Amino acid sequence: MAFCFRFGVLFLLSLRTASTLDVPTGVLQMECRERYFMIAVGLSFAGDKPRFEAVDSTGVHAITEEYAAECGYTISLLPVLGHVELRASYFSCHTNDADDEVFTFNFNLIVTRGGKQATYALNKTCTLSLPWSPREVTCEVNYMEVSVRSEATCPYEENGDSAFKPVLYSDWKVMFQRAEDQFLPMNLSEARKLGYVFALTDERLVFRTPYEQPHSFSTEVNGVPVEVVHAVLFSRQSWVVLVVDLLAACSMHNGSYDGGYMMWETSELLHSLVSPLNETEVSIGVNGKLVEKKVAEERGYTVEKINTTLQVSIPYKAEGGYRKSFVSRDLYEYYVFRLYLEQISVDEAEIAARLRFHRIIVTPLLPCHIFTENQTLLRERAFTIYLGGVPEDVVLVSIQLNGQEFTLPLSNMSTYNLTEVLHPNGTHGYTLTVLFDDPVVKLQFSRKALALQHILNVNYTLAVQPGNEPYYHQTAVTALTRVSPPAFDANCSESSIHFKLDHRPFDYFWEIAIGSDVLTSDLANRRGYIMSNDSQSLQLDVPLFTNGYKYQNVTLKGFSGTFEILVRVRETSEVQTSTVKTCLFSPPEFIMCSTDGMMTVVANLPLVVSSGGRTLRMSLMDNSCGPKDMNGTRALFSFPVNSCGFIFELGKDYVTYQNEIFYNKNYQNMVSNDVTERVIVQCTYPLSSLRQLFTMYRFVSDTVGVGKIIRTVQPTAGLQHPSRKPTAGLQSTPAIARHAQPIAFVPGVRPSTRYFRVSRVHNLAGG
Ligand SMILES: *[C@@H]1O[C@H](CO)[C@@H](O)[C@H](O)[C@H]1NC(C)=O
Ligand SMILES: *[C@@H]1O[C@H](CO)[C@@H](O)[C@H](O)[C@H]1NC(C)=O
Ligand SMILES: *[C@@H]1O[C@H](CO)[C@@H](O)[C@H](O)[C@H]1NC(C)=O
Ligand SMILES: *[C@@H]1O[C@H](CO)[C@@H](O)[C@H](O)[C@H]1NC(C)=O
Ligand SMILES: *[C@@H]1O[C@H](CO)[C@@H](O)[C@H](O)[C@H]1NC(C)=O
Ligand SMILES: *[C@@H]1O[C@H](CO)[C@@H](O)[C@H](O)[C@H]1NC(C)=O
Ligand SMILES: *[C@@H]1O[C@H](CO)[C@@H](O)[C@H](O)[C@H]1NC(C)=O
Ligand SMILES: *[C@@H]1O[C@H](CO)[C@@H](O)[C@H](O)[C@H]1NC(C)=O
Ligand SMILES: *[C@@H]1O[C@H](CO)[C@@H](O)[C@H](O)[C@H]1NC(C)=O
Ligand SMILES: *[C@@H]1O[C@H](CO)[C@@H](O)[C@H](O)[C@H]1NC(C)=O
Ligand SMILES: *[C@@H]1O[C@H](CO)[C@@H](O)[C@H](O)[C@H]1NC(C)=O
Ligand SMILES: *[C@@H]1O[C@H](CO)[C@@H](O)[C@H](O)[C@H]1NC(C)=O
Repeated sequence: MAFCFRFGVLFLLSLRTASTLDVPTGVLQMECRERYFMIAVGLSFAGDKPRFEAVDSTGVHAITEEYAAECGYTISLLPVLGHVELRASYFSCHTNDADDEVFTFNFNLIVTRGGKQATYALNKTCTLSLPWSPREVTCEVNYMEVSVRSEATCPYEENGDSAFKPVLYSDWKVMFQRAEDQFLPMNLSEARKLGYVFALTDERLVFRTPYEQPHSFSTEVNGVPVEVVHAVLFSRQSWVVLVVDLLAACSMHNGSYDGGYMMWETSELLHSLVSPLNETEVSIGVNGKLVEKKVAEERGYTVEKINTTLQVSIPYKAEGGYRKSFVSRDLYEYYVFRLYLEQISVDEAEIAARLRFHRIIVTPLLPCHIFTENQTLLRERAFTIYLGGVPEDVVLVSIQLNGQEFTLPLSNMSTYNLTEVLHPNGTHGYTLTVLFDDPVVKLQFSRKALALQHILNVNYTLAVQPGNEPYYHQTAVTALTRVSPPAFDANCSESSIHFKLDHRPFDYFWEIAIGSDVLTSDLANRRGYIMSNDSQSLQLDVPLFTNGYKYQNVTLKGFSGTFEILVRVRETSEVQTSTVKTCLFSPPEFIMCSTDGMMTVVANLPLVVSSGGRTLRMSLMDNSCGPKDMNGTRALFSFPVNSCGFIFELGKDYVTYQNEIFYNKNYQNMVSNDVTERVIVQCTYPLSSLRQLFTMYRFVSDTVGVGKIIRTVQPTAGLQHPSRKPTAGLQSTPAIARHAQPIAFVPGVRPSTRYFRVSRVHNLAGG
């Protein structure tokens, strides 16, 4: 097929009214690449919908998607890289071409910001860095462009001869061919309307077509899908017909992913009409730039020739590509590689053709694993949770702690905390710290472990930036801490000990006991404790001489009273702790009736006063029983209830032991008629609590007795006294104790049983 043409296009340098607006430095990048202008504008400046207009002598042309594919422009919005990229072919419709050597591209960048449009007039001039090959094909993302050198195909041309010079558009016609089909010829204006652009430059004929045009066809070469457009240009001039075959064929392989590699395929031979050439060399690049062979190897880019198929493999994480996170219920990531491939065909030691591919290979969605790690240390009494593996384009926007939402940054850092951890590999993480004591932490009592379980459910809300829907990641952590049993506060008052316990939510696990009895309001009532229990606290006031006290160091000055409250595990009744409080009491007068049957009395005997310095004589009914101590008018007696001339009364439910303190100014005369006041002391024990009643060795009661100091002027106060004169050698009589009627009698009979129980008043002063 012989074809010859030569055509020159005269470009008029346009005089445009340049906008006065200047693009800030750093946001605009304009580069000359081998066959195109590369213009990149930072998205931070351009916003997310920047527009471009091509400008030349014919006017201003908005570069729409369709127009770009027809006229040799490619616009890519690359949020991950942070810019929008415009590639303009040197042969794009509105580029000023000076001798196919110097190209100037004038264009407008239109930015909409805050509802206002701003237009920036820009231009770039590029000088060819690599000579044109006889045939060049660019398989762009959105179009195919073929250019062929005219001279190479015109061996008959004579110096500057313009005999065959056709006039484009009027003379030339194009006829598309598809496999066996032939379409009707059309002139170039008609073809342009269909989206095809033919141009004659200084030395080349250019043909460009978007993909999937009506006249294109898809075929398969060695398993590689190929799109082909075959245009036959012809011009009939008087006696000669010029015919030019223009064939664009591009591999349409979509790319695939296998075992960590992104693959793309093309064929050495894309169409039978393209003559098989001797040798093919392939170079790989990325983002529209070839990389050196060594670099490509280092990065793991490979091209393998399998028969005539060229298979490109790129490790999915290889340098040059980029990753993006994506949420579709789960979190995924995908990798994008903007492949640039150049195929050179060498024919008789000359580069006959260059084929360039701009292809975007994308991996499928790969699961992305965000994980949490429980780094809690119990001794810090705080949860520490690390959320890791967060990709760089994913940020944490909020967290829910046990359902409570906290937006970030956290405002209150006192009991919880969030810090970001950055890793050199680009991933990052967040360390969340929440004190166990933070109100947001749920508590649960673990009966088994006797411990408190702290529970924290965390729902992280993560967002891909820029991105689609949010992604939630949940985790739950728990920690067990030992719980101290409830502890009472105790205070002394003049005549009681006051206990207070502030309730905690999990205190129901324990029970409070006094001795072997569980503290209930009933027990408190029976024993005369004053108890109040509300939601806040338990308060217990234990008056002196009620059951449960232990007395020590009883002297005339006073005594110490000790009361113990036990904390037991409710389920096992095992005593866990106790609160023991000892208070010093110094009432002017008191009487104690111990469980082992000791009556201890401090009595004030004011009528005894003024003995003129003489020691007073006083005793119990048995005059051999004197006081243990005396000071002024006060005397301390301590003696077994069933001794010292006692008398007792056996009631239906109780037994009362009585004695009397005799005193007189007159040392000799024990029983004086001028005594007007009698001091009777009594201890009453419930019968039910008595273990051993009439024994001279031991008296045993489960409870203390109730003591009473009775002052009377009646000669027969208290119990009936059978004999006014106390006798020595006390004896008691058994059996009568079962009488229902209260009776009083003279002690006298020895007991028959001997029962010992160790329980008594200790350290009795002077005793
Ligand atoms: C090209 O841009 C430069 C500034 O970058 C400006 O000085 C010059 O006038 C522009 N040329 C045209 C033809 O618009
Ligand atoms: C191209 O063909 C159309 C229709 O056949 C005709 O109207 C038009 O004038 C032609 N244009 C040129 C430049 O020949
Ligand atoms: C490539 O992908 C597109 C969209 O996913 C699909 O329409 C087309 O058929 C695919 N082409 C090949 C050759 O598999
Ligand atoms: C290469 O081509 C030959 C012959 O067409 C065929 O037998 C062989 O299987 C092919 N090899 C591969 C790896 O496809
Ligand atoms: C292919 O190359 C070889 C040597 O490199 C040469 O002898 C041969 O003529 C070439 N063939 C074609 C068709 O260019
Ligand atoms: C911060 O938390 C502490 C403890 O939970 C709380 O006492 C305080 O009121 C909180 N401050 C603010 C500003 O929320
Ligand atoms: C929160 O972080 C700050 C600084 O890292 C630290 O000083 C503080 O103790 C942390 N608070 C908690 C509750 O961990
Ligand atoms: C990034 O580094 C961190 C910390 O060294 C590591 O835990 C994580 O697994 C790494 N992630 C990737 C994807 O390599
Ligand atoms: C996490 O929070 C989101 C948003 O509130 C909610 O839709 C999701 O159900 C929560 N996940 C869990 C497990 O609570
Ligand atoms: C987290 O760590 C704490 C402390 O080491 C531990 O008690 C707990 O069992 C761990 N696991 C979970 C799921 O909380
Ligand atoms: C009782 O007195 C002794 C000796 O004076 C003393 O050591 C002890 O602490 C006292 N006990 C109480 C409970 O006061
Ligand atoms: C006796 O009582 C007085 C006054 O109450 C006191 O000052 C004195 O110390 C007491 N003497 C003894 C030995 O207790």
